[in-house]
Amino acid sequence: MTTGKFITFEGIDGAGKSTHLSFVAELLRARNKTVVVTREPGGTSLGEQLREILLHEKMHLETEALLMFAARREHIAQVIAPALERGDWVISDRFTDATFAYQGGGRKLERAKLDALEQWVHPHLQPDLTLLFDVPLDVARARLDATRTLDKFEQEKADFFAATRAEYLRRASEFPQRFHVIDSTQAIPTIQQQLRAIVAGIDA
Ligand code: TYD
Repeated sequence: MTTGKFITFEGIDGAGKSTHLSFVAELLRARNKTVVVTREPGGTSLGEQLREILLHEKMHLETEALLMFAARREHIAQVIAPALERGDWVISDRFTDATFAYQGGGRKLERAKLDALEQWVHPHLQPDLTLLFDVPLDVARARLDATRTLDKFEQEKADFFAATRAEYLRRASEFPQRFHVIDSTQAIPTIQQQLRAIVAGIDA
């Protein structure tokens, strides 16, 4: 039996990752993969309840990091690990890189604490591929303002997003074997062409 692969989508709010997620899922389905699409925080009944709290309530920054990992623990146990064991492909809209970027970069929680939580919650699981949609802050902000009512994270200031983006890019250079950084200022068809090549590469 072939085992499935785990793909994560990352980027600061307004980077446009959601637009491309369903495109990649369809590309994989066209290649006869069974695809599970999920998201963080969330992906389970408990996780979605935690998401509501995380996106709308103010809390201590360590509480926030702990709840992100609590939701993740449930998500892995109920959704991600069983799907990969069945041989399905899993696409998650955000995963642990988001915690390093937002709680670590944006909110400045010490990296050692996040490393410890990652070691606790998923010592052996890492994405096979992480697509990082990268845009300058002013582009992200303009997209957010044009499209929706803003949640707790989306209301943060420019320096929060600058630090979040910097941490994403730092991780992309730390783990170049799984990260693909996509310049998300490009036209959608151009990005889709890049995604086709990346998907063909990982399903070779
Ligand atoms: P997002 O994925 O952007 O969903 P939507 O497109 O519906 O707004 O929203 C999730 C928010 O949660 C986003 O602002 C980033 C934040 N987040 C963290 O701060 N840490 C994490 O570990 C995760 C998974 C998300």
